[in-house]
Amino acid sequence: MKPFQFILLSATAGIIQSSTAAAQEAIPGYAYGQPTLAQAPYTASDLAALQKTMLFSDEDIQALRQSKAILADQTDAILDVWYGFVASTPELLVYFSDAKTGQADPAYLAAVRKRFAQWILDTADARFDQDWLNWQYEIGLRHTHHKKNKTDGASSVPQVHFRYLVGLTIPITTTLKPFLGNKGASAEEVEKMHAAWVKAVLLQVILWSQPYIREGAF
Ligand code: HEM
Repeated sequence: MKPFQFILLSATAGIIQSSTAAAQEAIPGYAYGQPTLAQAPYTASDLAALQKTMLFSDEDIQALRQSKAILADQTDAILDVWYGFVASTPELLVYFSDAKTGQADPAYLAAVRKRFAQWILDTADARFDQDWLNWQYEIGLRHTHHKKNKTDGASSVPQVHFRYLVGLTIPITTTLKPFLGNKGASAEEVEKMHAAWVKAVLLQVILWSQPYIREGAF
């Protein structure tokens, strides 16, 4: 690596770290890296084995890093698409709706949206360390009866049914692809970034599934 590239990467890493710290103050309920989070029930070597199984390579990590700068100023537009999909799919909107009235809860949607925007950057920037694993575990719990609604004090249904977590991987990654191509990357680079994102989202959904799965079967 050339010296100026190293300096650029180091400077970028510094910005990334401070942006995560700033996000913790600015985004209610965002807790990546906080010591209060429970220890994930899967280890770094479990993660490495899973990544190996998924053909998740250093090239994928490079492609995710490349996507960060591309996606950084498009998170609002991406969330418009993703939220539009959920809002127009009653089977999904129910999970953001009041359990009694069945009405969509705009405050709940808005609170989660802020953390979802940060999640786009965190996925592109994933460190795959213990803090990252603990945060994956927490996000998984927040989709289940253990913790859903608690962060935002919502009165919605108690859990997102597991089957939809896996299913949503497809619209999330399919609709992301045009955004990856919006900033002049070559078609080949876009393919690589997209492939990396499919793996990165599926990897997280697998980790999030742990609390749904019978003990000993994960
Ligand atoms: C690929 C699949 C999915 C991804 C990438 C994803 C991503 C996320 C993220 C990043 C958060 C915010 C976590 C936090 O910082 O607190 C979140 C929360 C949430 N997601 Fe998902 N999600 C997926 C599947 C689903 C599905 C299928 C639904 C059903 C509509 C859903 C409903 C929710 C709800 C209701 C919350 C708020 C949970 C709470 O009360 O804390 N998610 N999701």
